[in-house]
Amino acid sequence: MFYFGVDYYPEHWPEERWSYDADLMAEAGFNIARLGEFAWSRFEPSEGNYDFGWLDRAIEILSDREIRIVLGTPTASAPPWVMAKSPEMFRMLPNGSRVPYGHRREYCPNNPTYIDLSKRIVSALAEHYAERLEITGWQIDNEFGDRCYCPICAAAFHAWLRDRYGTLPILNQVWGTAFWSHEYTDWNQIPTPLADANPHNPGLALDFKRFASDSYVAFQKMQIDILRGKCPGHLITHNFMGFKYPKLDYFDLARDLDFVSWDNYLRMQWTINDGVDSRAAALGHDTMRGLKGRNFWVMEQQSGGGGWECVSVSPRPGEIRLWTYQAIAHGADGIIYFRWRTNRFGAEQYWHGVLDHHGIPGHRYEEIKRIGKEIRNLGETLVGARIESDVALLLSYDSRFSFQVQQGNPDFDYGEHFQDVYSGFAQQNISVDVVQPLDDLDKYRLVIAPALHVVSDAVAENLKRFVQGCGVLVFSARCGVKDVANAVVDRQLPGVLSEMCGTVVEEYDSLPTGVENELEVDHGIPIEGAIAAKYWCDVLKTDQARVVARYTRNYYAGKPAITLNNFGDGKVVYLGTFGEEATYASIAPWLMSLAGVETGINTSRAIEVGVRIKNDKRFLFILNHGAKDEVIKLDKQYHDLLTDIKPITGDIHVAPLDVKILIEIA
Ligand code: GAL
Repeated sequence: MFYFGVDYYPEHWPEERWSYDADLMAEAGFNIARLGEFAWSRFEPSEGNYDFGWLDRAIEILSDREIRIVLGTPTASAPPWVMAKSPEMFRMLPNGSRVPYGHRREYCPNNPTYIDLSKRIVSALAEHYAERLEITGWQIDNEFGDRCYCPICAAAFHAWLRDRYGTLPILNQVWGTAFWSHEYTDWNQIPTPLADANPHNPGLALDFKRFASDSYVAFQKMQIDILRGKCPGHLITHNFMGFKYPKLDYFDLARDLDFVSWDNYLRMQWTINDGVDSRAAALGHDTMRGLKGRNFWVMEQQSGGGGWECVSVSPRPGEIRLWTYQAIAHGADGIIYFRWRTNRFGAEQYWHGVLDHHGIPGHRYEEIKRIGKEIRNLGETLVGARIESDVALLLSYDSRFSFQVQQGNPDFDYGEHFQDVYSGFAQQNISVDVVQPLDDLDKYRLVIAPALHVVSDAVAENLKRFVQGCGVLVFSARCGVKDVANAVVDRQLPGVLSEMCGTVVEEYDSLPTGVENELEVDHGIPIEGAIAAKYWCDVLKTDQARVVARYTRNYYAGKPAITLNNFGDGKVVYLGTFGEEATYASIAPWLMSLAGVETGINTSRAIEVGVRIKNDKRFLFILNHGAKDEVIKLDKQYHDLLTDIKPITGDIHVAPLDVKILIEIA
């Protein structure tokens, strides 16, 4: 079944209103609601005294209307009596101060008292709801994140290091602690990297970020084990924060879950020039699908103007529908809108939901009701339909964390570079997967490794295998610079990747803010116009690879900037600099033709085309994110599933913010 629903907080509203709300939800076509993820104080008003009666009544009202339930475990926001138990439960900020009470996510994930109290509330909930058939599954906690630097974490970090390195001599060696006489003789001497003006050893700093990420993976696993043990029939997820959230290794966090879900807020603009970046949402969806290589849900889909102190621009009419279908086009099998009714109280008074504070349905409710009707008509058609991609981008959290320690160039940002590369390929209207460097890459023709900074021998071997087996692999600058301990490698860059690149970095130039170089592209290569080189220029030297582009400026004008090497049965391209979205959009067709990847439908940037496949049927999604009517040329006969018009051939008009879902007529 396709899950279509809403995030609902019955505990915030008088009980007399619940049935009316549930009627409106049913009328909107909702078949699922997420409840309870912040209701710890209502579940356990005082230690060990549980009250699930109110939630039972709310669930009954919803399930009478065939609305199923995702239950949140409430550990993201603890009541005052929990946090009053020990000041050590409060997360320590990098500046050494503790988070004060009064918001949420105040806890340290390694605090034994907090872990114990969390175990108890999760167990009580799981026992109470284990047999309830209305429950589809669980969301654990809410948007894990934020590192803790407290003494308990320091001790846990020492244990983590001991586990990773075994002995201090090994740790000292890989971190290179001879530098500045930092050679540790006792695990307890190792500091947590608190923020001060002076940077820590990069090995220590990267390991601390890995450790902090593992801490949440473990905290989540503690809850998963309880839920799996007591409620084996229920699904388990967590609500992630999309591609943009950089502090957790999301592949690790996804590993123990049944499926991934995420929170998608696109219209959070405050100034007149900020638009919605549909490509950022697209990358969010593709990353979330990539975490488990499986379809996902949107657990919180924006349904009103967001904001805490100020209200951001409200979604324009049609946008909620467009974003819903964009998510489905990228593999969502569930869409849940945040939140049902805008709250009168608390920090999120201005975070608007489907209904405003007054609770009277308005145009956002009507838009969602329309989507509900369309989704009901689609029935099972799209549920489980796959996305097939010939192209993958490698997302490396080791590299992302390493750049958080040392950016390399003050204007370079790993996430932005990744987004630019992704958007350049998205412009070709092809599907792109986001996977990890150690994943099996055999099913792809073209793999791009943006700024793959930290490279283990195992990753290098995996990439080699892919290229030798006919793949085309593309690196950008700053690849292969670091080993897994975040030390710079002791050979010419790109280190262990040099052999397959058939090129080495002779020297490099970190560009000052606002200064760019330019590339002159070889005449035989079908790339139009000059290419801007930003932030960083690797000056390449090769006897083996073909030089594809050269720098035009600076003392290294005329030296190679892009090379193409044959390796095994495949090819490796090294882009020795960084560009912007337009750069990657202009070189993507060349890279795709090298790899034999078919181009997608040619459209303006406002149009996004997605394909899902089920039982050999291809569903074509055409989404117009722009403000103008767009005309798309179709090469086959189609059936328009949303309007039920058929056949459709030739030119198809897509109005601003409108969507077409087409299926080929054989
Ligand atoms: C999400 C969070 C929700 C709510 C929403 C609006 O990030 O999961 O609980 O806070 O943002 O702020």
